[in-house]
Amino acid sequence: MRLSQSSIPERVLGISTTLLFVVIFLGQFIFALYILGLYGISGLAGDFERWNTAAPHGYDKNDITGNIFFGMHMALAAVITIGGPLQLIKGLRNRFRKLHRISGRIYITCAFLISLAGFYLVWVKGSVGGLVGSIFISFNGTLIFICAFYALKKALNKQFSEHQKWAIRLFLVMSGVWFFRVFLMLWLTIFKGPVGFDPIAFQGPALVFLYMLSYLCPILLAEYYFRTVKKSNINKVVGAVLLLIITVGVSIGSFAATMGLWLPNIK
Ligand code: HEM
Repeated sequence: MRLSQSSIPERVLGISTTLLFVVIFLGQFIFALYILGLYGISGLAGDFERWNTAAPHGYDKNDITGNIFFGMHMALAAVITIGGPLQLIKGLRNRFRKLHRISGRIYITCAFLISLAGFYLVWVKGSVGGLVGSIFISFNGTLIFICAFYALKKALNKQFSEHQKWAIRLFLVMSGVWFFRVFLMLWLTIFKGPVGFDPIAFQGPALVFLYMLSYLCPILLAEYYFRTVKKSNINKVVGAVLLLIITVGVSIGSFAATMGLWLPNIK
């Protein structure tokens, strides 16, 4: 089949978009294995002290409510990290429409619940990163609320093209904490150490930059994609190159996070 002139940029854009999502899906699958391996297995075995390996405020024997919220946050994290990518795969969506509707409602409910539990952890139990870290993760939680609300509303109103856009925005903000770990590890790989932040207090300008890169940039990029990329061939090529550069960065960061953070804790 002969390709028309305009179909080449279209195809290049399609391939680079798919490539980025494949890398994100694979990385999130490993993150989900880590959550199940570290928090799931030790939780089932009653070895709650192990929760504090990577989350300093995870388990406290004197704080039953806090432990319940943390356990709930981890269970939901596993569900959404596995379920989110599955919701976005077009083939599955088209083939199993009813299942997509049911799992979509579960995903959106989990989005609200994980953020509510997250707010409790940040503002009641305490978290790493000080006030600035708490404000940024809460900003991410607020974006999750907004995107989950509109993804559901547009689906119920049968505005499916709008629903699809809100579902992608929701997936991207739900992936914020994953992006943060990936970009942090990319940063540490590029600069060969904690440049621009204090690794003990976990505070500093580099982290502010990484928070914005993780929680805000993905939805801004999606906005650029929705509004501009498809308008001309040159935009498609520029969009494709941008996505390929991001894919390289996300791949390196994902690999570093897998080797440095996740694999050592999967037991
Ligand atoms: C929606 C996707 C989210 C996922 C998949 C997720 C996943 C996780 C995981 C795996 C941990 C344990 C730390 C680690 O092992 O890396 C954690 C801890 C935590 N999360 Fe989330 N989270 C999400 C959203 C949120 C939100 C929206 C908030 C706040 C509003 C939040 C607040 C926290 C806090 C405070 C901790 C404890 C950190 C500490 O021990 O200092 N999370 N989360």
